[in-house]
Amino acid sequence: PSRFTIAIDGPAASGKGTLARRIADYYGYHHLDTGLTYRAVAKALLDENMALDDEFLAEKAARSIDLSKLDRTALSTHEVGEAASKVAVMPAVRRALVASQQAFAQRSPGTVLDGRDIGTVVCPDAPVKLYITASPEARAKRRFEEIKSTDGSVQYEEILADLTRRDARDMGRTDSPLKPAADAHLLDTTEMDIETAFLAAKKLIDQAL
Ligand code: C5P
Repeated sequence: PSRFTIAIDGPAASGKGTLARRIADYYGYHHLDTGLTYRAVAKALLDENMALDDEFLAEKAARSIDLSKLDRTALSTHEVGEAASKVAVMPAVRRALVASQQAFAQRSPGTVLDGRDIGTVVCPDAPVKLYITASPEARAKRRFEEIKSTDGSVQYEEILADLTRRDARDMGRTDSPLKPAADAHLLDTTEMDIETAFLAAKKLIDQAL
């Protein structure tokens, strides 16, 4: 095919981001971490001291997000992630961001998008859909190992509680809740390292190419 899209969804710290980057590198495709778009809206509101549930302002911020200017470092904080899952419940915000994500998905020769609703809403026709899971404990442990080097005060129990709360918000919302598409391949990475997960994904992709 002249253009190919791979949709990757899953909960926070499931490993979907690392996997998406690895796949995009390998196939020479463009990668979009759609979580960054929700984070950018949240950060715009936080920076201006605006309420996170102001749908009018949030939609305005969502419409002005430039996908080529998403700064991962500034958007990666825990505070911005929490705020992102709050702005993500608003349908007007989702509509605006989904439109720019769908435009991104058209790029040649192919694209990898990762998020919560790629297989279900953003790219329902993607020829390959992956749904990445891992136990909450495994995800919390990975996140803990990641953060511990820069923040010595962080507690594993705290991270586990945060992840569980974020899962509940993402799975429980009315608009585009986190769930596997009917035709998604489930990949449980609880006992898998990134290379094993990549090889499993590669097999599925090569069959569809
Ligand atoms: O994946 P990440 O932690 O960066 O996402 C931050 C938040 O953005 C998620 O908790 C979720 O609420 C929201 N999000 C979403 N739909 C996506 C990507 C992220 O609702 N496609």
